[in-house]
Amino acid sequence: MRRIAARLLAFVFALVLAIPTVHAQAGGTSSDPWWKHAVFYEIYPRSFMDSTGDGIGDLNGIASKLDYLHALGVDAIWISPCFPSPQVDFGYDVSDYENIDPKYGTLADFDRLEKLGAEHGVKIILDFVVNHTSDVHPWFIESRSSRNNPKRDWYIWRDGKAKNQPPNNWISTFGGSAWQWDTKTNQYYYHFFYPQQPDLNWRNPVVADAMYGTSQWWYKRGVAGFRLDAVSTLFEDPNLKDNKILPGKNKQGDPNMDNENNDKLPEVHDALKGLRKAADPYGAVLIGETWTDNIAELKKYYGSNHDELQMPMDLMLTKLKFSAPVFREHIAAVNGTGEWPTWVISNHDIVRAWNRYGDGKHNDQIAKDMAAMYLTLRGTPIMYYGEEIGMQNNDPKRKEDVKDPIGRTGWPKEIGRDGERTPMQWDETPNAGFTTGIPWNPIPVTYKTYNVADELKDPNSILNWYKAVLALRHTNEALLDGDYIALNTSDPNVLSYLRKAQNKAVLVVINMSAKPQKAKFDLSQQGFSSGTATTLMSTPKAASTQKLSEIALQPFGVYIGEVTK
Ligand code: GLC
Repeated sequence: MRRIAARLLAFVFALVLAIPTVHAQAGGTSSDPWWKHAVFYEIYPRSFMDSTGDGIGDLNGIASKLDYLHALGVDAIWISPCFPSPQVDFGYDVSDYENIDPKYGTLADFDRLEKLGAEHGVKIILDFVVNHTSDVHPWFIESRSSRNNPKRDWYIWRDGKAKNQPPNNWISTFGGSAWQWDTKTNQYYYHFFYPQQPDLNWRNPVVADAMYGTSQWWYKRGVAGFRLDAVSTLFEDPNLKDNKILPGKNKQGDPNMDNENNDKLPEVHDALKGLRKAADPYGAVLIGETWTDNIAELKKYYGSNHDELQMPMDLMLTKLKFSAPVFREHIAAVNGTGEWPTWVISNHDIVRAWNRYGDGKHNDQIAKDMAAMYLTLRGTPIMYYGEEIGMQNNDPKRKEDVKDPIGRTGWPKEIGRDGERTPMQWDETPNAGFTTGIPWNPIPVTYKTYNVADELKDPNSILNWYKAVLALRHTNEALLDGDYIALNTSDPNVLSYLRKAQNKAVLVVINMSAKPQKAKFDLSQQGFSSGTATTLMSTPKAASTQKLSEIALQPFGVYIGEVTK
């Protein structure tokens, strides 16, 4: 009887969590799931805010910045892994999925962060490393202890092809063979990433269940969802067929290869369905680290019955060059999937957006252009900490300074990812206000001008531009739910589009060239024949009303206006 009552209670609890809620800041209609109109923000916990003075950021540090995040317009933070870990891959080598690394705090700190987050309207998304564990995770320690251990089949163990020869030719994406010889049991184990990150065997249903259970352990603690790490590599060909070797070598000096037998196998989608089934009773959202080569691959991650990821990231955008026609074509293709897009321009694995899209001369303005674009598109954006103040890569200049292991093994062709993971620049005091100790990763000198405190005071700063765009997208009906309609589609320099709601629309016009441009619009076909727009935002400042027949744009200038019926 007691058991039935407990189950009933759990069911009611799950039901309550599953009801879509709308946060005031996130806007939208009540039937929309909350994440559709939310703004997500990735935090690399080592680098956001240090509350203890050890030079490494932590959860209490994040908690101390919730006011900032709320005022910026952030609805959910995705915290990169903060679980116990030997930190070989800075947390992406998890040794206990159900705890917090002491470097970052305790479970009690986590609960406090979550509670304070809720008070600030900021939900918590954790990073679930599903492909592999650390080699010091108790599961792997058991698995490696003997060939007969019940957890042996939790990982991928195989005999070599012959003496001193791994089972096949697969290469780890972090360099060298993907197989590690283990003297204890005289077999190889498989690792797509570092040898300290052995791959879990997702073909073993007990492993899959353990992972589903782990996700639910966090949902019950109040986590709003997960960013799923490295999902494409969950499965390998069971016959371990060799991969095709391609011409040339990669940055680690290994032969290029087509990972057809250990990446993007169709079984990945079964695992994602399982993770989604585990998430649904809690109304949790699943975001995917989905590096795709094309739109069809991206579409697949949503699941044919919308039963996989709600938010597979469009990471293809991060590889495109800053250009009106290039972006126009890509946006059309992503919208063409008919799904709700997830836009990303930066993360902890790639060069910062300021450097990547910038032309070396107008980077600040281009940072505003990028914000004007991806924060006004139909879909959900995921920001990367520091992007909103124009943080720049600070890459190591010498091999001995490199912290990220791939930068040491691949130097100088691969310099690693330290440059995009430097501490957040809060103010112009020593160490940018990030720590009272020695920062784990050096802060670029540019922090003296690119920092939160100074930019808040400057009406023309990148930060105030971001705040204004985010405020607009949270409140403007057309930006929340309106259709995307591309305009002037043969203009080689200016990207223009409408976000159209019932009776009004927002016109976004971005000059992506270094020359002044003029744009003309006739919106009568779209039902807006007044010929004028009311200015909502612009850079540089424009008159409060604009004639649609002649919108003048400065180099890299932006105009955002509202048109009504
Ligand atoms: C993902 C993470 C990256 C990590 C890798 C291995 O790509 O974003 O930082 O090194 O997975 O877990």
